[in-house]
Amino acid sequence: MLMEIRGLRLAFERDGEPVEILHGVDLDVAPGELVALVGESGSGKSTTVRAALRLYGEEAALAGSIRIDGTEMVGASSGTIRGVRAESVAFVQQDPRAALNPVRRIGDSLAERLTRVHGWSRRRALERIVELLRSVGISQPEHRVRQYPHELSGGMLQRVVIAAALSTDPKLILADEATSALDVTTQAEVLAIFQRQIRERGLGMLLITHDLHLAAASCDRIYVLREGEIVETLARPGLFAGASHPYTRSLIETAPVMNRRADA
Ligand SMILES: Nc1ncnc2c1ncn2[C@@H]1O[C@H](COP(=O)(O)OP(=O)(O)O)[C@@H](O)[C@H]1O
Ligand SMILES: [Mg+2]
Repeated sequence: MLMEIRGLRLAFERDGEPVEILHGVDLDVAPGELVALVGESGSGKSTTVRAALRLYGEEAALAGSIRIDGTEMVGASSGTIRGVRAESVAFVQQDPRAALNPVRRIGDSLAERLTRVHGWSRRRALERIVELLRSVGISQPEHRVRQYPHELSGGMLQRVVIAAALSTDPKLILADEATSALDVTTQAEVLAIFQRQIRERGLGMLLITHDLHLAAASCDRIYVLREGEIVETLARPGLFAGASHPYTRSLIETAPVMNRRADA
């Protein structure tokens, strides 16, 4: 298993009192799988992935187990955590502009991790970036690497961020609302890129979204999160046929019709 979360509890301290946000989350991502974590805003989706990457400090109390590529993250040393983040995981966040330095050329931003963390030469790193940008559907990648973020559209930038995520050959991609800001067509294209990469490279991915229909159209398995608890797990075949929880039914009924597919 690439990621195995068991009984994950997380409490934030508020006014000196612990307030539990996650109440025992169980979740798996295997190699070659596209898995979704779906729930309405505030249900604890971002908290779950941020906890998995150990991005919280003292303000959050963690219990349970999070294994990423075999390494236990709960209670791990900062060196172990850094190692897992650098070697095994890529984290794609919602706002691509926030992930890129506005005053640096795209090629420089993307090459940095390869030169700094992996010790590649700048030239080798840039060649790899150009090849990756092409693979995520960016035209004239040799030209794009010399551009600045403000010169690219939102859809293009999201592709750039995906290329950045793939550049270090992660085994696991955690994408937090990575396509939510995009129009429906671009969203479908970006998901197709992820699906191809998952198939071709055998990596695993957790897609976090509030959009159950988007998840249903692309994912192998869906975990439905409500107020810090997984209330339902849906799997192919027959995905929605198995949905019985009233919360899941309400997500099915309230999602935008545009994303619906007859077989979903
Ligand atoms: N750093 C934090 N400190 C305190 N409470 C937080 C923090 N981050 C998130 N929360 C709370 O945790 C809950 C879940 O938030 P979040 O995981 O961001 O939800 P989602 O990503 O599903 O929209 C919310 O009630 C939010 O207010
Ligand atoms: Mg969130």
